[in-house]
Amino acid sequence: MAHAPLRIAAAGRIDPAARGLRVERFRPVDLADLPAVRELLRNAPEPAVVNFAARTDVDRIESERPAGPSPRGGPAWTVNTDAVAAMARAAREGGKYLVQISTDFVYDGTGGPYSEEAPVAPYSERLSWYGWTKSAAEAAVRAADPGALVLRIAYPYREHFPEKLDFARWMQARYREGTLPGLFADQQITPTWIPDLTRALPTLLERRTAGILHLASPSVTTPYEFGTALLARPDGGAEIRPASLEASPAVPGRAPRPLRGGLRTDRALGLGLTLTPWRRGIQEILGERRGP
Ligand SMILES: NC(=O)c1ccc[n+]([C@@H]2O[C@H](COP(=O)([O-])OP(=O)(O)OC[C@H]3O[C@@H](n4cnc5c(N)ncnc54)[C@H](OP(=O)(O)O)[C@@H]3O)[C@@H](O)[C@H]2O)c1
Repeated sequence: MAHAPLRIAAAGRIDPAARGLRVERFRPVDLADLPAVRELLRNAPEPAVVNFAARTDVDRIESERPAGPSPRGGPAWTVNTDAVAAMARAAREGGKYLVQISTDFVYDGTGGPYSEEAPVAPYSERLSWYGWTKSAAEAAVRAADPGALVLRIAYPYREHFPEKLDFARWMQARYREGTLPGLFADQQITPTWIPDLTRALPTLLERRTAGILHLASPSVTTPYEFGTALLARPDGGAEIRPASLEASPAVPGRAPRPLRGGLRTDRALGLGLTLTPWRRGIQEILGERRGP
């Protein structure tokens, strides 16, 4: 579907211009400042908001997990949950369309890949604290604004983005350095090809698609299978070792990850969105893709 180019304003702590990215307008905001978040959403003239921001360092924020059977609070909770709830309420009041970017870490990984209808896991220590803050954010969005969209992605990767190593380029960098750790051969994942997300957003914004939507590889893989396809060249190289997530001893401070995770993508395919299977994404990275 052809779209007029999106006109994008940004909000956050750092002006995208400082990173060489061009947007029409930038408004500074720290999501930990909830009144400022409300103010921003109320006064912004834009008709839609896509919230990518979150505290995402899964292992680092594990230490913020409060004790108790239904914990809340702490810096990651404020940014990942409270700020999103404030956004959703303000978006609803102002008639703005909200897209909240979320994650497969809302599932505990006992029965994936998961469809949008699959209920998220109740709170437990099997979920990372990150996953729980994102899950609580999803619940707040859905309660505040039935017209909003929760857009879940998983292990996003792309061909080129010097500003940040993603799942695939982290593997390449560690492989080149000879420091690649064992890759889990028993963890089920569905990596999201980032260009699919950037292609889908104009369509979703135009249609104001509501509810929950998964955008990920329609075929499942494991980090070991993905890494082997990405890194193993016919002329050899360093050894790529399989590891087991299930058999990994608990390491203090390391957050739990979904074992049998992954996202089912039937809804996105039904909407006519392009989803790149993970093997094709790797071919794109390696410059090996031929044909459609
Ligand atoms: N990466 C993954 O594997 C993955 C998988 C599934 C879903 N997701 C979701 O995708 C989204 C983007 O993830 P990412 O990996 O691109 O994360 P990222 O690189 O950590 O970027 C997060 C962004 O959030 C901003 N942010 C954090 N705290 C903020 C605050 N207090 N106020 C304003 N902005 C704040 C950061 O701004 P600064 O630049 O100022 O720090 C940064 O731009 C997140 O919602 C994440 O949950 C990611």
